Amino acid sequence: MQELALKGFGEVLKTVTFRVRRYDPEKRELPKYMEYKVPVQMGMTVLDGILYIKEHLDHSVSARYSCRMGICGSCGMIINGKEQLACQTQILELNKDLIKVDPMGNYPIVKDLVPDLSKLFRNHESVKPYIIREEEEPKSEFLQTPEQREEYAMFTDCILCGMCLSACPTNATDELYLGPQSLAQGYRYITDNRDMGFNERLNVLDSKHGVWRCHFSGACSEVCPKGVDPALGVQLLRQLLASNSFVKYKQKEATKGPERKSVSGVS
Ligand code: SF4
Ligand code: FES
Repeated sequence: MQELALKGFGEVLKTVTFRVRRYDPEKRELPKYMEYKVPVQMGMTVLDGILYIKEHLDHSVSARYSCRMGICGSCGMIINGKEQLACQTQILELNKDLIKVDPMGNYPIVKDLVPDLSKLFRNHESVKPYIIREEEEPKSEFLQTPEQREEYAMFTDCILCGMCLSACPTNATDELYLGPQSLAQGYRYITDNRDMGFNERLNVLDSKHGVWRCHFSGACSEVCPKGVDPALGVQLLRQLLASNSFVKYKQKEATKGPERKSVSGVS
Protein backbone atom coordinates (compact mmCIF):
# COMPACT_ATOMS: atom_id res chain seq x y z
CA MET A 1 0.00 0.00 0.00
CA GLN A 2 2.80 2.40 0.90
CA GLU A 3 4.69 1.44 -2.23
CA LEU A 4 1.57 2.05 -4.35
CA ALA A 5 1.42 5.59 -2.96
CA LEU A 6 4.83 6.29 -4.50
CA LYS A 7 4.07 4.60 -7.84
CA GLY A 8 5.44 6.60 -10.76
CA PHE A 9 8.09 8.35 -8.70
CA GLY A 10 10.80 5.70 -8.98
CA GLU A 11 11.69 2.34 -7.62
CA VAL A 12 11.40 1.60 -3.91
CA LEU A 13 14.88 0.43 -2.94
CA LYS A 14 14.32 -0.42 0.72
CA THR A 15 12.05 0.22 3.67
CA VAL A 16 13.47 2.19 6.56
CA THR A 17 12.02 2.59 10.04
CA PHE A 18 11.76 6.19 11.23
CA ARG A 19 11.76 6.47 15.02
CA VAL A 20 10.40 9.96 15.64
CA ARG A 21 10.32 11.75 18.97
CA ARG A 22 6.80 12.92 19.67
CA TYR A 23 6.01 15.58 22.22
CA ASP A 24 3.18 18.05 22.57
CA PRO A 25 3.68 20.39 25.56
CA GLU A 26 -0.03 21.24 25.54
CA LYS A 27 -1.03 17.61 26.18
CA ARG A 28 0.85 17.18 29.47
CA GLU A 29 2.24 13.85 28.34
CA LEU A 30 5.83 12.70 28.51
CA PRO A 31 7.78 12.59 25.23
CA LYS A 32 7.67 9.25 23.44
CA TYR A 33 9.04 7.69 20.27
CA MET A 34 6.80 6.42 17.50
CA GLU A 35 7.95 4.24 14.62
CA TYR A 36 6.93 4.49 10.98
CA LYS A 37 7.91 2.36 7.99
CA VAL A 38 8.98 4.52 5.07
CA PRO A 39 9.58 3.16 1.53
CA VAL A 40 12.74 4.79 0.25
CA GLN A 41 13.58 5.75 -3.31
CA MET A 42 16.82 7.08 -4.72
CA GLY A 43 17.30 10.74 -3.75
CA MET A 44 14.90 10.76 -0.80
CA THR A 45 16.00 12.95 2.09
CA VAL A 46 15.09 12.59 5.74
CA LEU A 47 12.71 15.53 5.24
CA ASP A 48 11.06 13.63 2.36
CA GLY A 49 10.67 10.67 4.73
CA ILE A 50 9.01 12.85 7.36
CA LEU A 51 6.71 14.36 4.74
CA TYR A 52 5.84 10.83 3.57
CA ILE A 53 4.90 9.99 7.15
CA LYS A 54 2.75 13.12 7.41
CA GLU A 55 1.01 12.47 4.13
CA HIS A 56 0.46 8.72 4.33
CA LEU A 57 0.88 7.46 7.88
CA ASP A 58 0.33 10.09 10.57
CA HIS A 59 -0.82 13.64 9.83
CA SER A 60 -0.11 14.75 13.38
CA VAL A 61 3.72 14.62 13.11
CA SER A 62 5.08 18.20 13.17
CA ALA A 63 8.28 19.42 11.52
CA ARG A 64 9.47 22.78 10.24
CA TYR A 65 10.80 23.32 6.73
CA SER A 66 10.61 25.80 3.90
CA CYS A 67 13.15 25.85 1.03
CA ARG A 68 13.99 22.12 0.91
CA MET A 69 17.41 23.02 -0.52
CA GLY A 70 19.66 23.82 2.45
CA ILE A 71 19.18 27.58 2.32
CA CYS A 72 16.53 28.69 4.78
CA GLY A 73 17.88 26.82 7.81
CA SER A 74 14.42 25.74 8.98
CA CYS A 75 14.75 21.96 9.04
CA GLY A 76 17.59 21.41 11.52
CA MET A 77 17.06 18.33 13.70
CA ILE A 78 19.06 15.55 15.31
CA ILE A 79 19.29 12.62 12.92
CA ASN A 80 20.84 9.46 14.33
CA GLY A 81 22.41 11.49 17.12
CA LYS A 82 23.84 14.37 15.09
CA GLU A 83 22.49 17.80 14.17
CA GLN A 84 21.78 17.89 10.45
CA LEU A 85 19.52 19.64 7.97
CA ALA A 86 16.78 17.11 7.18
CA CYS A 87 16.45 18.38 3.60
CA GLN A 88 20.16 17.82 2.97
CA THR A 89 20.44 14.36 4.51
CA GLN A 90 20.03 11.51 2.06
CA ILE A 91 18.37 8.48 3.62
CA LEU A 92 20.35 5.97 1.55
CA GLU A 93 23.64 7.66 2.47
CA LEU A 94 22.88 7.13 6.16
CA ASN A 95 23.01 3.41 5.31
CA LYS A 96 20.78 2.42 8.24
CA ASP A 97 17.55 0.47 8.55
CA LEU A 98 16.53 2.62 11.52
CA ILE A 99 16.63 6.42 11.50
CA LYS A 100 16.12 8.12 14.84
CA VAL A 101 14.89 11.68 14.57
CA ASP A 102 14.90 14.10 17.50
CA PRO A 103 14.31 17.85 17.66
CA MET A 104 17.35 20.06 18.20
CA GLY A 105 18.58 20.26 21.79
CA ASN A 106 18.88 23.29 24.08
CA TYR A 107 15.61 24.80 22.83
CA PRO A 108 12.07 24.57 24.20
CA ILE A 109 9.88 22.37 22.02
CA VAL A 110 6.85 23.79 20.23
CA LYS A 111 5.78 20.31 19.08
CA ASP A 112 7.53 17.10 18.01
CA LEU A 113 10.47 18.15 15.78
CA VAL A 114 9.77 21.89 15.96
CA PRO A 115 11.99 23.82 18.39
CA ASP A 116 11.29 27.35 19.60
CA LEU A 117 14.21 29.33 18.16
CA SER A 118 13.38 32.61 19.96
CA LYS A 119 16.60 32.48 21.96
CA LEU A 120 18.69 32.13 18.81
CA PHE A 121 17.05 35.12 17.15
CA ARG A 122 17.12 37.21 20.33
CA ASN A 123 20.86 36.58 20.80
CA HIS A 124 21.51 37.28 17.13
CA GLU A 125 19.68 40.59 17.40
CA SER A 126 21.61 41.53 20.55
CA VAL A 127 24.95 41.69 18.69
CA LYS A 128 23.46 44.20 16.21
CA PRO A 129 24.00 42.16 13.05
CA TYR A 130 24.16 45.07 10.65
CA ILE A 131 26.61 47.79 9.59
CA ILE A 132 26.71 50.64 12.10
CA ARG A 133 27.98 54.05 10.97
CA GLU A 134 28.60 57.21 12.91
CA GLU A 135 27.30 59.60 10.28
CA GLU A 136 23.52 59.76 9.86
CA GLU A 137 23.42 59.76 6.07
CA PRO A 138 26.18 58.16 3.98
CA LYS A 139 27.65 60.65 1.49
CA SER A 140 28.91 57.92 -0.86
CA GLU A 141 29.07 54.14 -1.16
CA PHE A 142 31.11 52.16 1.43
CA LEU A 143 34.21 50.92 -0.34
CA GLN A 144 35.79 47.56 0.42
CA THR A 145 38.65 45.60 -1.13
CA PRO A 146 38.44 41.82 -1.74
CA GLU A 147 41.05 41.36 1.02
CA GLN A 148 38.92 43.34 3.48
CA ARG A 149 35.89 41.22 2.67
CA GLU A 150 37.95 38.06 3.07
CA GLU A 151 38.45 38.99 6.76
CA TYR A 152 34.91 37.92 7.60
CA ALA A 153 33.66 36.22 4.38
CA MET A 154 33.14 32.76 5.88
CA PHE A 155 30.82 34.07 8.57
CA THR A 156 28.40 35.57 6.04
CA ASP A 157 27.35 32.03 5.09
CA CYS A 158 25.43 31.52 8.35
CA ILE A 159 21.80 30.60 7.61
CA LEU A 160 20.63 30.88 11.24
CA CYS A 161 19.68 27.22 11.44
CA GLY A 162 20.58 27.16 15.14
CA MET A 163 22.25 23.75 15.03
CA CYS A 164 25.45 25.10 16.59
CA LEU A 165 23.50 26.12 19.70
CA SER A 166 21.91 22.69 19.82
CA ALA A 167 25.32 20.99 19.85
CA CYS A 168 27.00 23.48 22.21
CA PRO A 169 27.69 22.10 25.74
CA THR A 170 28.11 25.60 27.19
CA ASN A 171 24.72 26.58 25.87
CA ALA A 172 23.29 23.52 27.62
CA THR A 173 24.47 24.79 31.01
CA ASP A 174 24.08 28.55 30.66
CA GLU A 175 20.65 29.78 29.66
CA LEU A 176 22.01 33.25 28.96
CA TYR A 177 25.09 32.23 26.98
CA LEU A 178 25.20 34.23 23.78
CA GLY A 179 26.18 31.13 21.81
CA PRO A 180 28.50 30.42 18.89
CA GLN A 181 26.19 31.76 16.20
CA SER A 182 25.83 35.24 17.70
CA LEU A 183 29.45 35.50 18.80
CA ALA A 184 30.63 34.61 15.31
CA GLN A 185 28.25 37.19 13.87
CA GLY A 186 29.54 39.78 16.33
CA TYR A 187 33.02 39.08 14.99
CA ARG A 188 31.75 39.24 11.41
CA TYR A 189 30.45 42.81 11.85
CA ILE A 190 33.29 44.10 14.00
CA THR A 191 35.86 43.05 11.38
CA ASP A 192 33.90 44.58 8.52
CA ASN A 193 35.93 47.67 7.53
CA ARG A 194 32.68 49.59 6.86
CA ASP A 195 31.41 49.09 10.41
CA MET A 196 31.94 51.51 13.31
CA GLY A 197 29.86 49.72 15.95
CA PHE A 198 32.52 48.00 18.03
CA ASN A 199 31.66 49.89 21.22
CA GLU A 200 27.95 49.36 20.79
CA ARG A 201 28.44 45.59 20.74
CA LEU A 202 31.06 45.42 23.47
CA ASN A 203 28.60 45.32 26.36
CA VAL A 204 27.07 42.09 25.06
CA LEU A 205 30.11 40.34 23.58
CA ASP A 206 32.48 41.09 26.48
CA SER A 207 30.01 40.07 29.19
CA LYS A 208 29.68 37.26 31.73
CA HIS A 209 27.60 35.25 29.25
CA GLY A 210 29.57 36.34 26.20
CA VAL A 211 32.76 35.35 24.46
CA TRP A 212 34.73 34.27 27.55
CA ARG A 213 32.12 31.66 28.46
CA CYS A 214 33.02 29.37 25.55
CA HIS A 215 34.83 26.18 26.60
CA PHE A 216 35.97 25.57 23.05
CA SER A 217 34.54 22.12 22.64
CA GLY A 218 34.28 22.81 18.90
CA ALA A 219 30.95 20.94 18.66
CA CYS A 220 29.37 23.97 16.98
CA SER A 221 31.72 23.87 14.02
CA GLU A 222 31.38 20.10 13.64
CA VAL A 223 27.64 20.37 12.98
CA CYS A 224 27.50 23.60 10.95
CA PRO A 225 25.97 22.69 7.57
CA LYS A 226 27.51 25.70 5.81
CA GLY A 227 31.13 25.31 6.92
CA VAL A 228 31.03 28.52 8.94
CA ASP A 229 33.32 27.40 11.81
CA PRO A 230 31.72 29.50 14.57
CA ALA A 231 34.30 28.14 17.06
CA LEU A 232 36.98 29.92 15.04
CA GLY A 233 34.88 33.09 15.13
CA VAL A 234 34.71 32.89 18.92
CA GLN A 235 38.47 32.46 19.20
CA LEU A 236 39.18 35.30 16.78
CA LEU A 237 36.80 37.51 18.72
CA ARG A 238 38.65 36.70 21.94
CA GLN A 239 41.92 37.52 20.28
CA LEU A 240 40.52 40.80 19.05
CA LEU A 241 39.19 41.80 22.45
CA ALA A 242 42.48 40.92 24.10
CA SER A 243 44.66 42.63 21.53
CA ASN A 244 46.03 46.12 21.26
CA SER A 245 43.12 47.12 19.10
CA PHE A 246 40.89 46.41 22.09
CA VAL A 247 42.91 48.88 24.16
CA LYS A 248 42.52 51.43 21.38
CA TYR A 249 38.80 50.90 21.16
CA LYS A 250 38.48 50.96 24.91
CA GLN A 251 39.58 54.58 24.90
CA LYS A 252 36.13 55.42 23.66
CA GLU A 253 33.51 54.79 26.28
CA ALA A 254 31.36 51.76 25.47
CA THR A 255 27.73 52.61 25.02
CA LYS A 256 25.20 50.43 26.74
CA GLY A 257 24.03 47.44 24.69
CA PRO A 258 20.61 45.84 24.72
CA GLU A 259 19.37 44.15 27.91
CA ARG A 260 19.31 40.35 27.69
CA LYS A 261 16.81 38.47 29.77
CA SER A 262 16.31 34.74 30.28
CA VAL A 263 13.03 33.17 29.22
CA SER A 264 13.18 31.00 32.32
CA GLY A 265 14.01 33.82 34.72
CA VAL A 266 17.60 32.67 35.30
CA SER A 267 19.92 35.64 35.76
S1 SF4 B 1 26.93 29.10 12.41
FE1 SF4 B 1 26.37 27.31 11.15
S2 SF4 B 1 25.27 25.94 12.59
FE2 SF4 B 1 25.32 27.99 13.54
S3 SF4 B 1 23.39 28.96 12.93
FE3 SF4 B 1 24.95 29.57 11.41
S4 SF4 B 1 24.76 28.05 9.76
FE4 SF4 B 1 23.71 27.19 11.53
S1 FES C 1 14.07 23.27 4.41
FE1 FES C 1 15.37 25.02 4.16
S2 FES C 1 17.28 24.32 4.91
FE2 FES C 1 16.04 22.54 4.93
